[in-house]
Amino acid sequence: MLEILNDVPLKPLHTFGTDVRAEAFVKVADREDVEALPDLLKERNYLILGGGSNVLFTDNYRGIVVKPVMNGLNTLDESEGHIVLEAGAGLDWDAFVAFCVKNGYGGVENLSLIPGNVGASPIQNIGAYGVEIEKVIEGVRFFNLAERGWNAYAKGQCGFGYRQSVFKKALKNKCVIVSVVFRLTKKKHDFQLGYGDLSKLVKEKGGESLQAVRDAVIEIRQGKLPDPKVKGNAGSFFKNPVISHVQFIELQKIYPDMPFYDLLGEKKIPAAWLIEKCGWKGKTIGNAGVHHKQALVLVNANGMAKGKEIVELAKQIKNSVQSRFQIELDFEVNIV
Ligand code: FAD
Ligand code: EPU
Repeated sequence: MLEILNDVPLKPLHTFGTDVRAEAFVKVADREDVEALPDLLKERNYLILGGGSNVLFTDNYRGIVVKPVMNGLNTLDESEGHIVLEAGAGLDWDAFVAFCVKNGYGGVENLSLIPGNVGASPIQNIGAYGVEIEKVIEGVRFFNLAERGWNAYAKGQCGFGYRQSVFKKALKNKCVIVSVVFRLTKKKHDFQLGYGDLSKLVKEKGGESLQAVRDAVIEIRQGKLPDPKVKGNAGSFFKNPVISHVQFIELQKIYPDMPFYDLLGEKKIPAAWLIEKCGWKGKTIGNAGVHHKQALVLVNANGMAKGKEIVELAKQIKNSVQSRFQIELDFEVNIV
């Protein structure tokens, strides 16, 4: 039986910590709860909310916020070399990573300390330090609200790309992800240490082990990303833009120090560098700001920011990057 709460404060339920409320709020814990949703949500606005670490509310939410809280963790298959785990959507992502590392299951250690829940991990194909979650996802189980039916997509059906998946495109707002199936290594771990100084730091932590990688990643992240409990934020506000080789060559003539990652025939440019070059790093406008250690992260500077102020700052940043570099930045954060 679904318990619907009215006029619920959302401030503790999303990491930007803006002071907004939801008209209605409901938790879904099992199949029966999820199957009751289409009738409940009929002709109403609704939003599926995980840990709230990739959303920005611009106002009070006029509709129902639905929070999946399934927290099961089951072994579907196991051999000497691998384990296949099905993790409930409501599990805390980093608690899941910690569990895997502790038990010697490899594949998610580079993704340590990313906030949010397991259910959101396939949505933008979370990625950090050279690994994207698609690498270890075997499948995603979800309920299609429009079709009122259960579905299981294999990895190949998920349309994964850089900060992209079918759940952000054709299935956006149409499905409730209830669990994610991961295939992890039990030995012969494929350590990915090529990003920045990760390899050096892992050596300092005792050399290649899942725990050393986790510790190193956590240390790097804590050194530059603001802790949402201290300063509201949603991680990178923009995606890193991908530009053509031709545009890159032209820009490189003017900015020979411009960092880049090679893609097939294209280049990905760190948006943080573009934003810093435009002079935004560490700036505050009203209650919204640009983090002083990582220019891609917008912050609720004093805990009093309104979502609209943060969006306004983001638009100003987007405009200045566009006019200086002719590069369009896209939001990574979901603006609600
Ligand atoms: P939410 O913010 O609650 O939701 C995100 C989107 O997914 C929304 O559109 C929501 O409707 C939808 N959604 C959520 N759960 C479900 C579900 N069960 N079914 C259907 N739809 C759902 N991301 C990275 O990729 N890499 C990083 O390194 C990284 N670092 C971060 C660092 C900080 C400090 C912060 C605050 C954020 C960071 N993020 C990063 C962004 C964020 O943590 C991830 O996108 C995370 O996966 C969001 O999970 P969530 O549960 O909080 O999702
Ligand atoms: N840089 C600057 N100024 C800054 C910060 C960075 O010029 O203030 C430049 C530097 O050249 C640096 C480069 O940008 O080498 C890359 O910076 P960083 O390693 O911090 O990574 P990023 O590209 O800014 C991406 C992800 C992060 C992820 C890190 C690590 C996106 C949009 N963001 O950031 O994900 O944690 O790589 O892999 O792809 C998130 O999605 O919310 C997120 C935090």
